[in-house]
Amino acid sequence: MKKILAIAVLISVFSAVRAQHALFIPDTLSGTTFDLTVHKDSVQFKPGMITHTLGINANKYFGPTLLLRNGDSVSIMVHNQMGDTTTMHWHGLHVAPGNDGGPFSMIMNGMDWNPQFVVRNNAATYWYHPHMMAKTAAQAIKGDAGLIIVKDAAEAALVLPRRYGIDDFPIVVQSVELDTNNQFMPKGMVDSVILVNGTDSPYVNMPAQIVRMRLLNASGERTFNFGFTANRSFKIIGTDGGLLTAPVTATRIRLSPGERAEILMDLSGLVGQTIFLESYAAELPMGVQGGPTMPMPPSSPPMNSPLNGIDFNILQINVVSPTAAPVTTMPTSLIPDTPYPESSATAWRTINMTADSMMVMDGPFYFNHNLFDMMRIDYRIPLNNVEVWTLYDSTMVAHPFHLHDVHFYILDRNGVAPGPEERGRKDVVLIQSMERVRFIAKFTDFADTTIPYMYHCHILMHEDDGMMGQFKVGTEYTGVTTIPLNNNSIKLYPNPATDNLNIALENSLNGSPSGISIYDAMGRVVYSGSANNHLELNTTNWARGLYVLTVHYQTEIVHKTFVIE
Ligand code: C2O
Ligand code: CU
Ligand code: CU
Repeated sequence: MKKILAIAVLISVFSAVRAQHALFIPDTLSGTTFDLTVHKDSVQFKPGMITHTLGINANKYFGPTLLLRNGDSVSIMVHNQMGDTTTMHWHGLHVAPGNDGGPFSMIMNGMDWNPQFVVRNNAATYWYHPHMMAKTAAQAIKGDAGLIIVKDAAEAALVLPRRYGIDDFPIVVQSVELDTNNQFMPKGMVDSVILVNGTDSPYVNMPAQIVRMRLLNASGERTFNFGFTANRSFKIIGTDGGLLTAPVTATRIRLSPGERAEILMDLSGLVGQTIFLESYAAELPMGVQGGPTMPMPPSSPPMNSPLNGIDFNILQINVVSPTAAPVTTMPTSLIPDTPYPESSATAWRTINMTADSMMVMDGPFYFNHNLFDMMRIDYRIPLNNVEVWTLYDSTMVAHPFHLHDVHFYILDRNGVAPGPEERGRKDVVLIQSMERVRFIAKFTDFADTTIPYMYHCHILMHEDDGMMGQFKVGTEYTGVTTIPLNNNSIKLYPNPATDNLNIALENSLNGSPSGISIYDAMGRVVYSGSANNHLELNTTNWARGLYVLTVHYQTEIVHKTFVIE
């Protein structure tokens, strides 16, 4: 195993306070065998008490970067010395469920875990972090995470900056809350400390040439609306799971927790200048964590981070002399990539993101009104199925939805094709309040009817509170098999309703619903139509009283009552 200690940065990263700190560039591990030891450590982030952290190998906070090559057979030994049970998940890697590091692959304290797999991913930026049931936030926010860079032949054939720490920079951004004793508050939403690669108040020297930045939002809840001083433009070249077909010129890139993007920026001729990577959070819509704070009911916990809804600096970039042999041209095309055609889909599923009421801002949030249950398999997916999933957010807050196992392509947001920067392979997609997002995915390669894969909200406190589901992929599964129809597969809200009524339908064992009718107490039809996954009816002029909703499936009819007040 080759271990490169990246450029001159390790020095005072975690020492002096207030002053600017040189950005920590995590060292890299490459080859085919890897060792990661997760251990308890501490860092002096702020004056006063030291902050207890979880370090990996020599690092006190945040782990080394794993450099993987597509096609390699790799073996990763994870040693757990953190004093608690954990797991290690390779976020975005397409591996068998037993190697995925989900909640079932627990590593007791003092024990090791040794997944071995062939790297099947496209060149892109991925990451690793624990996935312990109800403890992901507590462990990941303390520093137990790291970057994964996958390389492949197609990417290597392009003229792109790829000298790690020299013209190709890892930029992992986290917002954290420290309590008055300087300890991490994993579920804290007053997150006012911004760390980049674990460095508080960081600066980095970048050469005056085309540079590449690998952005990862590793925060527990905050979404960043990244941009640079004076709206300097850049090229987005990659998404969560690969390079785009062509670079996209942009001045902003919004990343919610778990999302990555690779960008190129031309710093030629700017020697001596200072540019800031910023979050233009004032532009984020309300309801997206980090955007303007919503008016809150009096009993709610504090969510008023001073960074919400304002523009703030994240990383100071000092432009220094160019390196030898810089990349001097921006690519005009990258890696051709075509989404699966919608006509190839054979199954459709709907996930409604819900809460106990519209007033809920901090959880618990549900998928289809269900909390995560390790004993319940939500979906059984036939191997090689091409599926369209519809995600609808019925809550007041935005949720970054993450799918394990495979990457997906976003088909549309509220019926509109996504922007060019979202047309690539994705494994996290942010869904805003009342937004409907559809994606298409193909469940290839790994069939396993014993260990499930996860899908969940990547706001870590939502995930830990149960906003997670699980699916198995199997050769013996056929058709669309979802959880049996129960009271939860038809949602009516609010109930009682006044001015409007939402009807959310899910597929059942009997297939997808074909039509709905609504009868009043006298048995008269007051509404009938085709069954959309989500329907909002204006009921302002409906008489008060009891109504019955009837939903027709291929082999059954289901009734549900509601009241108009
Ligand atoms: Cu980033 Cu299920 O994980
Ligand atoms: Cu993941
Ligand atoms: Cu969420």
